[in-house]
Amino acid sequence: MTEASGRRPAGESLLGALRERPEDQDLWDRLRVRQFPGARINLDPGSIATPAQAVRAAMQGFWDDELFAYPEGQVQRGRAERRRVRALAAALWGGQPPALTAGTSEALRTIGQALRERLGGSEGPLVLMSEHEHPSATAAFEPGFRAAILPDAALRDPAVAGAVAAAQRPAILLLSQVTYTIGQAIAAREIAAAVRDAAPEVFVIVDAAQAVGLVPPALTGADFVVASGHKWLFGPPGVGFAWTSSRARAELPLLAGEGEEGGCAGLERRGAHDFSVYAGLAAALDLHAALGHVALKRSRTLAAWSARELHERLLAAGAAHRFFDPSTGEEREGPPTAEQLLATVSVALPGVDLEAVCTGLHRAGIHVRCVFERRAGKRTPLLRLGAPCYESTARVRRAIEALVAAVAASRS
Ligand SMILES: Cc1ncc(COP(=O)(O)O)c(C=O)c1O
Repeated sequence: MTEASGRRPAGESLLGALRERPEDQDLWDRLRVRQFPGARINLDPGSIATPAQAVRAAMQGFWDDELFAYPEGQVQRGRAERRRVRALAAALWGGQPPALTAGTSEALRTIGQALRERLGGSEGPLVLMSEHEHPSATAAFEPGFRAAILPDAALRDPAVAGAVAAAQRPAILLLSQVTYTIGQAIAAREIAAAVRDAAPEVFVIVDAAQAVGLVPPALTGADFVVASGHKWLFGPPGVGFAWTSSRARAELPLLAGEGEEGGCAGLERRGAHDFSVYAGLAAALDLHAALGHVALKRSRTLAAWSARELHERLLAAGAAHRFFDPSTGEEREGPPTAEQLLATVSVALPGVDLEAVCTGLHRAGIHVRCVFERRAGKRTPLLRLGAPCYESTARVRRAIEALVAAVAASRS
């Protein structure tokens, strides 16, 4: 491999067939066997997805021509791959080509430092955020900042968000586009616009870690949009994207740095590192572009099927449980439908030690996540099941059976 551009994702005819016949389970099985083989069932792509084989092959191919013994060659090829990733991202989602980061947490940490430096003040800048922000996102705004809560009602109604902003006058808005706890899709663009109307100087940060790969990043009206390549894009661990507004780049000197192609070099990894991740990320974007919207449709259907299956089996086991409505965030008894879901289903199981259940399942090669919801000052454990498009109902059923057996055992 000497040329960084022009590769096609492996199995083009399979991907074409999937776009034409997205209901065909056999085709998804073939995709799984080809791109995501292995016995483990990873229903936690919202943390770290299984990278596609095309991604792993591209990373291996990066080292062809004994590049491991050719430092300048690594730098040159890494640069070409970074350019390709940026161009693919711009073609997929519009906007300026993004900075390529080490992931969402890292990017937010740097943004937090830059904003602290810019906004200064003895009191610390006020950050308006929902109660659904990821701990590594809030951690970036803990020392030296003050926090104000954007209530759930404001997530459903931008006018409420505007009223809160008018009262609080935040310097920063931090908002997930899709929440990591229950997969709630937030109208980030509309909320940002309402907050900016009330507080024109506000810096808007959209955390799109759980959005990118499922829905396009909400770039309009944001100063920063950050996302990870190793979640719903099935890319390599330790890469991500950051889009920045021209205002952010102009006003935050810490982010400017020495860029090879302009952009926002202060958010990118510097110096020598494993440049093959950019080849992997480019392959992940190729696969994402080739699958198009059918991946989301399939994830939605599989998530809804998983929710129904889980509901029936938990009922049969006599385990009390609650689901959530991903469009409103409210609790509900029955499982949400495919129209409401993106790709994850979360369930509360009062009285069950969900962390212990997850640990037990890891040993059986089944990977689901215990996340903690922190609404209203409480810390409620939830079980989060992701539905990657390539998974089969047979394998997900096996995971759910094991899960419900572990829940039943933990209660006996
Ligand atoms: C909403 C959200 N933000 C940030 C992160 C941290 O992402 P990363 O692992 O890329 O640092 C996560 C990880 O799960 C997340 O879900």
